[in-house]
Amino acid sequence: MLPNPISILPIEILLSTIFHQYFNSSYCLSLVSDSPLNIPIKNSFTYISPGDGELFVNQLLDVSEMGCSDYIVRMQDPKKFMAAFEKVNHLGNVRRSDRKIVFLPPEEDNKTRIDLLEVLALKESGFVANILLVLPTTELSLCSYYDLVTHKYVGPDDQVDEPYYLDRWNSCSSKFEKNANLFPHDMSNLQGKTVKVACFTYKPYALLDLDPSKEPLGRDGTEVRIVDEFCRWVNCTIRIVRDDEHEWGEVYENHTGVGVLGNVVEDRADLGITALYSWYEEFLVLDFSVSGIRTAITCVAPSPRLLASWEMPLLPFSWYMWLALFVTFIYSSLALTVAKGFSMDKVFLTTFGMMITQSQADVGASWRVRSITGWLLLTGLVLDNAYGGGLASVFTVPKYEKPINTVQDIVDRGIDWGATHDAWVFSLTLSPEPLVKQLVSQFKVSSADVMKKRSRQRNMAFSVERLPAGYFAIGDYITKDAMLDLTLMQEDFYYEQCVVMMRKSSPYTQKVSQLIGRLHESGLMLAWETQVALKYLNYEVQLEVRLSRFHKDVDNIEPLNFRHVVGVFILYAIGVMMSTVLFILEIIAQKKQIPLTLLTN
Ligand SMILES: *[C@@H]1O[C@H](CO)[C@@H](O)[C@H](O)[C@H]1NC(C)=O
Ligand SMILES: *[C@@H]1O[C@H](CO)[C@@H](O)[C@H](O)[C@H]1NC(C)=O
Ligand SMILES: *[C@@H]1O[C@H](CO)[C@@H](O)[C@H](O)[C@H]1NC(C)=O
Ligand SMILES: *[C@@H]1O[C@H](CO)[C@@H](O)[C@H](O)[C@H]1NC(C)=O
Repeated sequence: MLPNPISILPIEILLSTIFHQYFNSSYCLSLVSDSPLNIPIKNSFTYISPGDGELFVNQLLDVSEMGCSDYIVRMQDPKKFMAAFEKVNHLGNVRRSDRKIVFLPPEEDNKTRIDLLEVLALKESGFVANILLVLPTTELSLCSYYDLVTHKYVGPDDQVDEPYYLDRWNSCSSKFEKNANLFPHDMSNLQGKTVKVACFTYKPYALLDLDPSKEPLGRDGTEVRIVDEFCRWVNCTIRIVRDDEHEWGEVYENHTGVGVLGNVVEDRADLGITALYSWYEEFLVLDFSVSGIRTAITCVAPSPRLLASWEMPLLPFSWYMWLALFVTFIYSSLALTVAKGFSMDKVFLTTFGMMITQSQADVGASWRVRSITGWLLLTGLVLDNAYGGGLASVFTVPKYEKPINTVQDIVDRGIDWGATHDAWVFSLTLSPEPLVKQLVSQFKVSSADVMKKRSRQRNMAFSVERLPAGYFAIGDYITKDAMLDLTLMQEDFYYEQCVVMMRKSSPYTQKVSQLIGRLHESGLMLAWETQVALKYLNYEVQLEVRLSRFHKDVDNIEPLNFRHVVGVFILYAIGVMMSTVLFILEIIAQKKQIPLTLLTN
């Protein structure tokens, strides 16, 4: 419904012109005004009459959550709006990269003009690309004029908050003087604006402090190349922001933090990179780009060792089989005892002999004894051959301990796994699954030195990332020597999508996401991974990890050697020792009792 034309003020005509040109595709608009505004708007909008303090923030939050995140503001104190807007940005969950804010003058005087211009100098304004100020001019004439001003936003740092004059509107002709684009900052050319990037050295995502003679910028890495490419695309300059000590860092409850995450949360950096996964906790306070690198997290765990050789004679049969044998032995002895008319005379020795296919001196004449002996001899023959066959295979094919291949194995063994930062378990901590909970409780954070030491002690698994092009992100503490005794696990713990993190509703989000989409399209990221891996990663370690599951199978079948029979000899030695001891004891005992008999014999 169009109001009566006579009641329309010039400013309202201007507003409706702007609206039709720039906001006709806006999902929903918020009008924030102290005094009623009269504009014919076709699409949906909400009207806010600003309250005080917290109330205003809540009003804004409500409409922002509904998706009305383009604003037309007419307030006596426009700075109050920016302060509330910034709070809502942190509280709300709705994000938009390309929000627009239009400030209208509440009054037509010089003071209003100055008040509005001060908005541009606010820190909060630096995070919104499209701010349009409609400034009244005080020229004395019949017509009123309005200056349309925004901030420079792009270009050198010291000029970004300076006003940038766009156009002038004349109320008599209802025309713009230059017909300029009133929202010029579409992020496609930043004119060398500084973009601060938080990262730390973590191969192969980001490598800093490289030799400038080899790498002109002194940095490289798969994700560093994403931001470098971004700046080549939109014409910006990168400044690296570092907090190496805290690596990924963390975000505290009070919206402060350390490390990469802290730098982004506290706006010390515009973009955060280096293997930042799409963590839920972080999503609540930051913006994510679309996912770049898909990575899988697994571990290198101690390799299974050759089984000790004394165990070898036991290996041909399983424990159940040994138990069955023992039961057979007892049962047969019992049968023989019964058959012999309940005489235990040499029963155990005879049964044992028959089970290892020894011939019998004299079975006696009884048919009962004969038939039991006969069946026992047959059983013995079968068992003996089965054991012999098993033993041959145990001797020729090397036998290893049970390998650590799955998460279940790690949990069953109770072996620690770890890295230098607990970012590795951020993705798992919220899981209610008992297995995952147990896995998280076995995670240990230690310094690189401790990790290096433990990598040789066979009591810990070390997390690594399996990257999409077939390389691995491995901590430097895992050397080639240590890797000889470690094996890559078969199962992945989990996989994650790496994203670029930004402040909520950052103007960069959309552009960065667009770029990553293009990189996926072209397959460039896989190529970069290969290039970076070949250039900076320790190729020997990479190969060791990749082949760790294979190289143990090379000498699968080996000739018999001393190692195989040591076990048997150990058993033999134990037997000999025991019999010697018994023999001596027997002599001593006999001597005491009937020394004379022994002497005369
Ligand atoms: C929005 O306005 C632009 C410029 O006037 C026009 O080209 C476009 O068709 C309009 N879109 C809609 C949905 O009205
Ligand atoms: C407004 O400010 C301009 C310059 O900033 C000045 O020329 C003009 O006289 C002022 N007008 C009033 C009414 O103060
Ligand atoms: C990129 O920014 C620089 C200023 O740093 C500017 O001189 C140059 O013209 C811009 N390039 C393009 C293609 O606009
Ligand atoms: C925020 O919380 C952290 C840890 O809880 C604390 O170390 C820091 O001092 C707090 N910062 C502020 C500004 O309150």
